[in-house]
Amino acid sequence: MKKLLLAASVLAVGAVAHAEGDRGAQLYTMYCTQCHGAHGNGKGINAAHMSVQPRDHSDIKEMSARTDDELFKVIQQGGKSVNKSVLMPIWGGNLTDDDIHALVGHLRELCCQKD
Ligand code: HEC
Repeated sequence: MKKLLLAASVLAVGAVAHAEGDRGAQLYTMYCTQCHGAHGNGKGINAAHMSVQPRDHSDIKEMSARTDDELFKVIQQGGKSVNKSVLMPIWGGNLTDDDIHALVGHLRELCCQKD
């Protein structure tokens, strides 16, 4: 019964986020915040235990030095594909191109928000 309730609420959250057209933010919360932090500042719950620190996605200077294509590639093919740490996972197996484009869009929002 608990499982059913959980499934129902996950679906409900999905529907709301979709309705708001904020798929990038929803995916980010689901897959990225445990390392990159809720506000993308690189201070997720895993970060303290990692030998390479997750990128601070709110760092305007660093993030504006990346093209959308570069961000797409590192998300799809992992850190190793761009000579960065393998601690940045490969997401191409789980996320569609549309999902990754939505995430790139969300990264562009994160970099310019003030906490
Ligand atoms: C297991 C922890 C972990 C998760 C989960 C994770 N990342 Fe990362 N990510 C990292 C680490 C560590 C780096 C830094 C790699 C480096 O600098 O060598 C990184 C780097 C990046 C970069 C590269 C920034 C640059 O410097 O060019 C992007 C973009 C990125 N992550 C996006 C994402 C997105 C989007 C998600 C969710 C789909 C995600 N990450 C999930 C650990 C993670």
